[in-house]
Amino acid sequence: MGLGMMDATDRAATLDQGLDQTFRDRFAADVVAGLSARPKYLLSKYFYDDRGSQLFQQIMGMEDYYLTDCEFEILERHGLALLDLIVQDNHPFDLVELGAGDGLKTKVLLGQFLGQGADFCYAPIDISAEAMAGLVADVAVQFPALAIAPLVDDYFHGLHRLQEQTERRRVVLFLGSSVGNFTNDEAIAFLRHLGENLNPGDLLMIGFDLMKDPKRILRAYDDPEGITREFNLNLLDRINRELGGDFDRDRFLHTPTYDPMTGETKSYLVSTQDQVVHLAMLDQSFRFDAWEAIDMEISKKYSLREIDGIADRAGFVPVKSFLDERRWFVDAVWMR
Ligand code: AVJ
Repeated sequence: MGLGMMDATDRAATLDQGLDQTFRDRFAADVVAGLSARPKYLLSKYFYDDRGSQLFQQIMGMEDYYLTDCEFEILERHGLALLDLIVQDNHPFDLVELGAGDGLKTKVLLGQFLGQGADFCYAPIDISAEAMAGLVADVAVQFPALAIAPLVDDYFHGLHRLQEQTERRRVVLFLGSSVGNFTNDEAIAFLRHLGENLNPGDLLMIGFDLMKDPKRILRAYDDPEGITREFNLNLLDRINRELGGDFDRDRFLHTPTYDPMTGETKSYLVSTQDQVVHLAMLDQSFRFDAWEAIDMEISKKYSLREIDGIADRAGFVPVKSFLDERRWFVDAVWMR
């Protein structure tokens, strides 16, 4: 049966499966590359399946994970100042959010913008269908008048959507210090690519977690409740679920570190013994030596000076920086 003979529901279901297949293939290829490499690594963008997105929402609710409180404070205090930077003469604009998740922080902005009668469309992009469904349902209740154009994809591919021609000004939100999951060179390459898909005058508001007491930073990634540990181990579970793996999570130690010289928080899973992990659906095996580590995630911490350098190298002009009272976090507004 060709696509032409299907009704709209069948077609949507087939396209969905096609999408799932592409996602699965990308995931499989990246897992094999990472487990074959020396040192081994897994990509932290794969933390965010539905379960991982739930765990990250729990992390954002933790006392020790100060980043979320800091950014809440910034958006609450400075949301209207941001709107002033965006709009002249109430021109309509598109508010694109990369990695929207449950949108809890963004709703602060949406409320303020709508309260001012701003004319905009909210375009959240997130990889978790479940998180997105929650966000859309939430926003529909809280802000029935809001125009919303959700997209379920990773934000690397979601950027393509920005290539669509539009006369409207675009404002891209990249909150939460998500950029910290890149090394500086990767961040600059990604932001350059983002900029190429924007028009001159478009804005980017991007969150950076700042350097601070190393103990405070480390605690945010090593909570005593073990939620962050679970967040890391969930990626092994995901490989088991989706690729038929036989990872035994009890044979790996969650090991976060912070280096105040580089500002790099890193998370590793350390194999406690010699072992072989088999991925049945790919018919591939991977050998681990005792105490060999998998590099799981980088969460970079920045100095304000360093952030201006990144803007410059990525082809943006810094417009304004909004900090919280403690100066632990910054939301920087840059112009393309
Ligand atoms: C979503 C990338 C901002 O690195 O702080 C939280 C993810 N990892 N705890 C971060 C994360 C462990 C988070 N970001």
